[in-house]
Amino acid sequence: MHPPKREFIPAAGVDWLLPIYDPLLRLLGRDALLRRTLIADADIEPSQHLLDIGCGTGILSVLLKQLEPNANVRGLDPDPKVLGRARARAAHAGVAVEFDRGFADQLPYSDATFDRVFSSLMFHHLTPDQKIATLIGVHRVLRPGGSFHLLDFGEATSGLHGLIAHLFHRGEEIEDHLEGRIPAMIRAGGFADVEEVSRHGTMFGSISYYRARRASDDGPASTPV
Ligand SMILES: C[S@@+](CC[C@H](N)C(=O)[O-])C[C@H]1O[C@@H](n2cnc3c(N)ncnc32)[C@H](O)[C@@H]1O
Repeated sequence: MHPPKREFIPAAGVDWLLPIYDPLLRLLGRDALLRRTLIADADIEPSQHLLDIGCGTGILSVLLKQLEPNANVRGLDPDPKVLGRARARAAHAGVAVEFDRGFADQLPYSDATFDRVFSSLMFHHLTPDQKIATLIGVHRVLRPGGSFHLLDFGEATSGLHGLIAHLFHRGEEIEDHLEGRIPAMIRAGGFADVEEVSRHGTMFGSISYYRARRASDDGPASTPV
């Protein structure tokens, strides 16, 4: 799949930092624990179809397949360099994960394809319009009753959290997070049962885990507010 040429913010902010992206993540502290919590909470069943949007170097996609070997796992990212690393990670781990090149707000999948969609630390790379388009698309590709699991920067509940997040992320992409607008945006994407399940302090700021469900008797996604 070859999406049209478009700009995006790469995994580590700039391309030349990509080789140290994984070690940087470990600095986040609790990274592995947060991902395992996200997966455990998703209550995955064998043979389900799982999608990891903005999969980066494939940490979450590969972990999903390792923890749920009978699930069908796909990762999606616009950056061919991180996709190369993700494929190498899967090969090294000896697991079969498909990786596609594409953008979160233009998901190249049919309606109602997936049981679970995950996104970890990607959402703050998107502008507000891209976030809403992504959420509408995630709602579309989820089967009714399926769920979306989002790990990313949360509301800045202290000046320090906001300051730290701003140090690492300049631009409008981070503001929806720090201002606590993510749950309302998820609802605007058409989701029911939106919940901030947990919140974790890290050295890069406050990270929240949000869970949302596509209603079982759902029609098309609602129009954004
Ligand atoms: C900080 S990394 C997170 C990677 C991975 N999910 C993780 O948890 O390690 C953010 C990723 O989002 C990707 N990204 C940026 N803009 C995107 C977009 N519009 N759609 C999908 N992914 C995007 C980047 O290429 C990068 O790999």
